[in-house]
Amino acid sequence: MFINIDDDAEPLMDFLGDITKHFERWPFANRWKATHSAKIVDSNWKLAQEAFMEAFHVLATHPQMSIGLLGGDGSNTEYNIYDNGDANWSRMTMAPPMPNPNLPYELTEQELIEEMFFRGESVSEMGVQKMAGSVDDLPDGITTRKLLADSARKNEPKGFVGSEPTDVELTSAIQYHIFPNISPWPGPIFYRHRPYGRDPDKCIMEIMMMVALPEGAERPPAAKINWLGPDEHFGNIFNQDVENVAQVQRGLKAAKPPGGLTLGNYQDIKVRWHHRLLEKWVNREI
Ligand SMILES: [Fe+2]
Repeated sequence: MFINIDDDAEPLMDFLGDITKHFERWPFANRWKATHSAKIVDSNWKLAQEAFMEAFHVLATHPQMSIGLLGGDGSNTEYNIYDNGDANWSRMTMAPPMPNPNLPYELTEQELIEEMFFRGESVSEMGVQKMAGSVDDLPDGITTRKLLADSARKNEPKGFVGSEPTDVELTSAIQYHIFPNISPWPGPIFYRHRPYGRDPDKCIMEIMMMVALPEGAERPPAAKINWLGPDEHFGNIFNQDVENVAQVQRGLKAAKPPGGLTLGNYQDIKVRWHHRLLEKWVNREI
């Protein structure tokens, strides 16, 4: 639900623009809020959100992913802004799992799948255990991504409307942002970042799981918000992002002109989109 206290606000559908067409494929009307966690994070709300606007940070922040899961350093990520950056929404698509072209050695599809599933570690009551094993040789022309897409297809993926889900839809992390502060995924993840009162050095970060309901299923009650304490965490990968942002905020404050801050031309295009819109709204005539 969107509420706007401005009597002169433009219609919501005009503000949202064509993103509504994209989500005809994954309608939110068929979803329910299965989980909802929130945490007060030590950074400005814009900075915390921007940690999820590019995949450039993955190589440094999530080194355990460098082999396959997210394509390592984001080389396999596409960023989209629309209407020359004037649209109030944007998208990124991380296309895993593909051999990371920036690893200092060449990785075959066979090695990729073995690294992902058989050379890692698993954690159980028995402690951390090395996984051991291998997969049969992949047939020629079959990629890890194709194998995972076919496996997902067999499990009757939910939430799609229209044609059969494509390999990209079944294996990629597709993430949208709607200005200024919400981020719905076609998958179940949904982020929201809010200011924490008037403190510019803190924010409220929220992660929800908006799960597609099976056809005809009764909608369970929406999950209540679960406030995490300072020593509680969202989960392994999210933790790494959250740990980082307080340091990045200190770094930004230290980055005074003329050196200042340099944003990547492509990898940071969504961050630049976000700030361009912020300036437009903050400086607009009222
Ligand atoms: Fe991250």
